[in-house]
Amino acid sequence: MNRFYITTPIYYVNAEPHIGHAYTTIIADVVNRYHKMMGSKTFFLTGTDEHGDKIAQAARACGVTPKAYADRVSGLFRQTWPKLGIENDKFIRTTDPEHVRVVQYVLQKVYDAGEIYFSTYKGHYCVGCERFYTDREMVDGKCPDHDTPLVEREEANYFFRMSKYQDWLIDHLEKNPDCIRPERYRNEVLAFLREPLDDLCISRPAERLDWGIPLPFDSNYVTYVWFDALLNYLSALGYPEAEGYREFWPVAQHVIAKDILKPHGIYWPAMLKAAGVPMYQHLNVHGYWKTEEGKMSKSHGTVVRPLDMASVYGTEAFRYFLLREMVFGLDANFSEQALVQRINADLANDLGNLFSRTLAMTERYFEGKIPPFASEAEAMDKELLGKVDNARAQFQEEIPKLGFHKALMALWECIAEANRYIDYVAPWSLAKDPTLLKRLQTVIRNLLEVNAIVAVLIAPFMPETASKMLTRLGIDKRPQDLRLSEDGCWARLTEGTKVEKGQSLFPRVETGDKNREKVEKREQTVKSVQDGKKPEETKAPLIDIDLFRQVDLRVGLIKAAEKVPKSEKLVKLIVDIGEQRQIVAGIAKTHAPEDLVGKQVVIVANLKPAKLMGIESHGMVLAVRDANDLKLIVPEAKTAPGGRIS
Ligand code: MSP
Repeated sequence: MNRFYITTPIYYVNAEPHIGHAYTTIIADVVNRYHKMMGSKTFFLTGTDEHGDKIAQAARACGVTPKAYADRVSGLFRQTWPKLGIENDKFIRTTDPEHVRVVQYVLQKVYDAGEIYFSTYKGHYCVGCERFYTDREMVDGKCPDHDTPLVEREEANYFFRMSKYQDWLIDHLEKNPDCIRPERYRNEVLAFLREPLDDLCISRPAERLDWGIPLPFDSNYVTYVWFDALLNYLSALGYPEAEGYREFWPVAQHVIAKDILKPHGIYWPAMLKAAGVPMYQHLNVHGYWKTEEGKMSKSHGTVVRPLDMASVYGTEAFRYFLLREMVFGLDANFSEQALVQRINADLANDLGNLFSRTLAMTERYFEGKIPPFASEAEAMDKELLGKVDNARAQFQEEIPKLGFHKALMALWECIAEANRYIDYVAPWSLAKDPTLLKRLQTVIRNLLEVNAIVAVLIAPFMPETASKMLTRLGIDKRPQDLRLSEDGCWARLTEGTKVEKGQSLFPRVETGDKNREKVEKREQTVKSVQDGKKPEETKAPLIDIDLFRQVDLRVGLIKAAEKVPKSEKLVKLIVDIGEQRQIVAGIAKTHAPEDLVGKQVVIVANLKPAKLMGIESHGMVLAVRDANDLKLIVPEAKTAPGGRIS
């Protein structure tokens, strides 16, 4: 029997789960479910990384012990995953005694082999990263990741002879070109390796930091958090003796984002080699989820919480969106509007409609019983079958290399083809002519078969939807028991089985004004609610005068104003700024249109035009929010319209 072992990074407990963590864990879940479906024995590991300065500091800030702090946040991660349909086999914590034992075992082994030495080190240290930076790595004396000044620090510490493994690692990556994938990240690691590799400082003096695993050969020191954390991938399998290690380590695959490429692409291989453990099979590296403002992180105040999304839009739709939207390896933008669009177009329209139309016709024409293939396949039928075969082939080709969006695109081509098939064959006209009964039976049977295969192929992505579809098609199997070889073939259904029409799989999400305003408001808040900050309070970066001058601010005179129909907050204005401008402003709740006419306001005149509720807007009116009120910004005294503000 084939084996499959997949891991996520173990997440730091100084932040609550956000969409980035959710994405990594969901893709590990999808690929794990896929391998199960292919008949492999699988093991899926996730967990939390709990030692080190960062955690000790966060705990201090909350006035609790590091352990109590870690227990709480680790619990949050553990509870989140099942709510997102994730079925991991183990949840490891670096404070687990078995893990601590393995870390000490490996340290001792590597130390005994002479691969760890004691030395004094002076350098530039970043508390956020918990590491020293070399002159080459730092940027203007600052940490390249945190953009904060590095502190000079001198310390006697233990060092791992990482540099010794440089040539071996280059050779390994050259001989195993898909070991780190996609290729851009393999190239990135090879680029690091073109420069001489330093040895790795793997200890911290216990007098400065006691929240860590003591070195087995010197209790005055604790283990550097990365040397501790990476070993979770082995300790979770019961390394060195357990059967789990023998069974699963040879097929180990890690999933990470690009932020932690270096520890996984360089430190970890060197550690494995030094400990006499074979290299992992694959390191799968994905890009970053960003918001329109850029990087998504707690410190930037732009965090999207996965459970919020899942509770509003459903776990299945959220999973689908993440997997369909991101090209594996590249960055992607998260927006709630885009999520709503995907739900309505792909899930409600394409998939939901196909399923409900098929079942409704089975009900109408055959009392809900699966009809036989009663006539020869025609050209259209063969075309449809071609799309099914292609979707199945792409599923098998792409998922093992994490090309989820490609697998889903092929599947949706097949769904679209089936919808076209219905429109083209028009079963309702066949039903009018009794001599065409056999053709009608074949057509409906074809459609039912397509739906059954779609249910199987979406199972790793949306297990609950797959389960609903299978039940209603009369297939009595849980998604996790599906096997592609048995359940993913044509003619899988049994003639005469009763199907169940049921409700629509994905109700459309309203995109009207109400919902749109709601979504915009939510997008604003989810991006910046962490730490109780209101969006307005987030600190803006410093800009220079040239950048400010790029904003064309003008005095405007409001000539006409009317409420935008069906909108609570929008008002359409005609503003004189030396020329007449149509501007849509969100001030209707606080300003009656009739009071606006004749008022002078301040306008951003070079804002890109936008459509709000279908109405073009060529500029923006400036206002300030004061409690629940909105006050317009006005010139001190009457000024000629169009005057430039500087
Ligand atoms: N504790 C270390 C990992 C040790 S593994 C031996 C760590 N933890 S972390 O909490 O910072 O998690 C980093 C990982 O979270 C990324 O590699 C990625 O899997 C996920 N993501 C966090 N933010 C992300 C995005 N904005 N976008 C996509 N994934 C990101 O590093």
